[in-house]
Amino acid sequence: MTPSRRFFSFEGVDGSGKSTQARLLAQSLREAGLPVTLTREPGGSTGAEEIRSLVLEGDPDRWSAETELLLFTAARRDHVEKTILPALEAGHIVITDRFADSTRLYQGLRGELTDTVDILHRTMIGIDPDLTFLIDIPAEIGLARAQARADTEQRFEDMGLDLQRRMRDGFLELAKAPRFRIIDGARDQGTIAADILATAMAYLDAC
Ligand code: ADP
Ligand code: TYD
Repeated sequence: MTPSRRFFSFEGVDGSGKSTQARLLAQSLREAGLPVTLTREPGGSTGAEEIRSLVLEGDPDRWSAETELLLFTAARRDHVEKTILPALEAGHIVITDRFADSTRLYQGLRGELTDTVDILHRTMIGIDPDLTFLIDIPAEIGLARAQARADTEQRFEDMGLDLQRRMRDGFLELAKAPRFRIIDGARDQGTIAADILATAMAYLDAC
């Protein structure tokens, strides 16, 4: 638990709309006069952005699940040290596009490394978001949207629809924890954004 209780994350399958909604929430909260740091994973600090290109580009078999887990954890440690904790200490609301739940799913579930993920998280990271928006969407829609982006960061999308389906089910399982809010991502962007903003404001008012 962070001292400020203002650490928010967005999670969901590729193409679910996390980046769009994280950006819209940051914009609305800033317009309401609140200080916001918007960040993302993998990345969010200089060192972690360098690791990002190592993990997201190239052949799907480039790294084993174990190596990937170490790379994502190293990136996250740098992100927490250099960006997240300083921003929370400065009184900002921190909004991150993905955090450790993505590792729990993509490396933990896919690589059958759930216990190792938990140990590394506890010893090397030590914090979880206070509020997590899970943008839930059928895997087919997410994959089609993500592939339509035609960027070079396709390593995970290239692993296919079956993986995306398992990830969706896994996220819904994690979302049984109280810090999660499940958001229906199969609606238009404005409707989803209004839903998320109302949820965030209700949370902040109750803090
Ligand atoms: P993610 O960060 O989860 O991968 P993005 O926010 O990058 O998702 O969205 C993936 C693609 O889908 C982008 O081209 C984006 O413009 C589009 N998109 C986002 N939200 C919606 C929505 N609610 N309806 C239709 N398309 C959307
Ligand atoms: P991201 O840029 O958020 O992709 P998208 O916008 O398509 O959702 O993340 C890229 C990929 O990195 C995504 O397929 C999930 C993967 N990933 C992991 O495997 N483990 C992690 O810990 C994180 C943060 C991301």
